[in-house]
Amino acid sequence: MNTKAGRWQELADNLFMNTTTRIPLTIVKGRGARVWDEKGQEYLDFVAGWAVDSLGHCHPAVTRGVIEQVQTLIHTSNQFYTIPQVQLAAILVKNSCMDRVFFCNSGAEANEGAVKLARRYGKQHLKGAYEIITTLSSFHGRTLAMIAATGQDKHQQPYLPLPTGFINVNYNDIEAIKSATSKTTCAVMLEPLQGEGGVNIASEGYLQAVRDWCDSQGILLILDEVQTGIGRLGTLFAYEQLGIEPDIITLAKGLASGIPIGAILASEKASVFAPGDHGSTFGGNPVACAAGYETVKFITENDIAGNVIKTGNYFLSGLQRLKNMYPFITDVRGRGLLLAIEFDADVAQLLLLECLKNGLLVNKVKSNTIRFMPPLIIGKEEVDEALGILEKVLSVYYHDKSR
Ligand SMILES: Cc1ncc(COP(=O)(O)O)c(C=O)c1O
Repeated sequence: MNTKAGRWQELADNLFMNTTTRIPLTIVKGRGARVWDEKGQEYLDFVAGWAVDSLGHCHPAVTRGVIEQVQTLIHTSNQFYTIPQVQLAAILVKNSCMDRVFFCNSGAEANEGAVKLARRYGKQHLKGAYEIITTLSSFHGRTLAMIAATGQDKHQQPYLPLPTGFINVNYNDIEAIKSATSKTTCAVMLEPLQGEGGVNIASEGYLQAVRDWCDSQGILLILDEVQTGIGRLGTLFAYEQLGIEPDIITLAKGLASGIPIGAILASEKASVFAPGDHGSTFGGNPVACAAGYETVKFITENDIAGNVIKTGNYFLSGLQRLKNMYPFITDVRGRGLLLAIEFDADVAQLLLLECLKNGLLVNKVKSNTIRFMPPLIIGKEEVDEALGILEKVLSVYYHDKSR
């Protein structure tokens, strides 16, 4: 096959279903927070596979764990016990308020499983209640049921009719949750910070109020920590910063630093699955679990969450400085290393491509908003480099705009 620069992109465009607007970059290698294209051009990666490469690209701990595991045992069915699966479950339980774990392969699958678990709970404890309250601007995945859970028209409209059993209400509005609750409600499912919806922060006291409401109604609280979990916001789990404990947590993305995995964590009370109720062929695969175990072990043993707070705050203040310099920046927000910068016009794609030309990968989360979700191991040097590129790109845009 002809590997000349650009050839891969042309082939891909003819081969794949047209589900995403790709960025014209073929990544062939990654190390830490850097990736390289087929011509050897280097880029600073502040996308990290959509908040997945938590320890950066090819982190030695993860790479070693995966190599050892593929040389030992790649796969077996979940009717047998495997050691990496137990090790990952144990480290997750030890470092959270949860008691039990189910492994799957993605965030959508983890959320589907969490919804099934909540419905099972509803059948057993809430007279058959099955409905889940979720929020507008949320994102819970791409399966049909998770589109119904995801409160975004653009994801729902092309696929109507959707599975029933979900009510989408305003985020940060406890009264909306209260009004939507009925005797058919079995759970509320929320992101502690809405990632794909535009990096929307939960307002002070909101999650506490939701927890209190769920307790008063005897319904479950599911936190979708697919994006916020595993250190991204500066604690291993985002709920730790909210002063509440959920009944169920879903994880995926950063859990295995790039190897596909998902997980449902639940309290003993909510762990109501019985044999045969749920399952997955690949879920809990030993290679994925070895990568997950090395990732969580490294993060907890090396205070990577502490680094996220330090580096994230430093990055946030740099972005605020840019906001003070350029009036077309309307907002800067986020927590830890999940940050966003919003503009007064739909320029995110344009600025993203300018950043790309200057060696920085960023993500367009909305037409007027750029999101940053670099590996959790970055330091001030990488942040300074990214801020330098952003400043250059923004200053060129500003001068072009004011001409
Ligand atoms: C909060 C949240 N939940 C679920 C998902 C879906 O995860 P996956 O793409 O692994 O199915 C995402 C993906 O962006 C997400 O951000």
